[in-house]
Amino acid sequence: MQAVVYQGPGNIVLKDVPRPTIIEQNDALVRITQTTICGTDLAILKGGVATVTPGRVIGHEGVGIVEAVGSGVRQFKPGDRVIVSCITACGSCEYCRRGIPSNCTEGGWILGNSIDGCQAEYVRVPFADNGLHHIPPSINEETALMLSDIVPTGLEVGVMNGQVKFGDVVTIVGAGPVGLAALLSIQFFSPADIIVVDLDDHRLELAKRLGATMVINNQDSSATAKILQKTNGRGVDVAIEAVGHPLTCKVAQEIIGVGGTIANIGVYSQSAELHKEALWVKNITIRMGVVNTTTIPLLLRTIQSGKLDPSQLITHHFPFSDVLHAYEIFANAAQEQAVKIVLAVGDASDDNARLSTDALVEMIVGQIMQQVSAH
Ligand SMILES: NC(=O)c1ccc[n+]([C@@H]2O[C@H](COP(=O)([O-])OP(=O)(O)OC[C@H]3O[C@@H](n4cnc5c(N)ncnc54)[C@H](O)[C@@H]3O)[C@@H](O)[C@H]2O)c1
Ligand SMILES: [Zn+2]
Ligand SMILES: [Zn+2]
Repeated sequence: MQAVVYQGPGNIVLKDVPRPTIIEQNDALVRITQTTICGTDLAILKGGVATVTPGRVIGHEGVGIVEAVGSGVRQFKPGDRVIVSCITACGSCEYCRRGIPSNCTEGGWILGNSIDGCQAEYVRVPFADNGLHHIPPSINEETALMLSDIVPTGLEVGVMNGQVKFGDVVTIVGAGPVGLAALLSIQFFSPADIIVVDLDDHRLELAKRLGATMVINNQDSSATAKILQKTNGRGVDVAIEAVGHPLTCKVAQEIIGVGGTIANIGVYSQSAELHKEALWVKNITIRMGVVNTTTIPLLLRTIQSGKLDPSQLITHHFPFSDVLHAYEIFANAAQEQAVKIVLAVGDASDDNARLSTDALVEMIVGQIMQQVSAH
């Protein structure tokens, strides 16, 4: 099968590798129909994630069709349409039972990291009953794809860790897919002001359309001063860091107000300073972590009810054969006006055949109408 393989810093290739098989009884084999690229994959490509070693199939976001299951899998069968969570959870270790499956002793974020991942035609999903989610018929695959990682991440690690409340003034630093995903779900908590900071005007424009009340381009490092001015020097109630850079970590610390919470989403490949000498007096909370993806079932309901539409984050579509080009586009997101890129994997005609019942009905009705009008 074709897969994106990490070969060392700065070097990924699309090449033929053996198709994975069921190894453990709790495994499922999923035929990936759509996958995408995460900011974390760019960090891997730069050599910034030490656990990813040469030869690894990368990617931790995907949707697809269950191809086969091991004897211990109860909730899924071949043919099911599923989301692959970026988090693998055994369900029985101490951390899984404490509700922190991101730190599962046998899993956590391992797909596309320490085991082969989703930027491939097939993926082996361990502990499939916990790592897969059924896609309801009313939700299309590319919308569901946004739930593998970015939408739960924005909600759990940004909004929920940030303890956003009605009337809060919040800032999201970073308007990449993850920061914008946080922007989508933060509005359920009714903050008074949502200030979004980035370096990319296109992403900031999108942030405005998605509900930001103020956007700041931080090319001139003016974000701190502008936010303090806007809040009369008080600072914000919640600062969500969705970049993973020492400079943006500093901004979050400079703008946090008394009693506020800094929610750190960004993954750091270098150390960042924590200025306790300035922060201790403000009675603040700092939270950080890896997404657990435990909100996927709730997010599916919210999408079904029409209250959330993560497909608004999708800007580009490519066939999987163009994945290396897609990496270039995502790495040059500002010039390319890119946010989330959907890669269609495998023979799309199979999926089209399955998904186009409506179109088929329309065609048959059309033919009947033609015959009727001809007589
Ligand atoms: N904690 C988790 O579980 C988890 C899960 C997924 C992703 N992440 C991390 O979240 C972060 C964001 O992911 P993404 O996919 O949105 O990445 P991304 O690289 O697409 O987005 C980052 C954004 O930050 C902006 N930016 C960079 N420097 C800035 C600065 N000085 N001031 C303001 N904005 C700046 C960029 O223009 C970009 O739009 C990454 O670090 C990723 O690794 C964490
Ligand atoms: Zn990710
Ligand atoms: Zn576990």
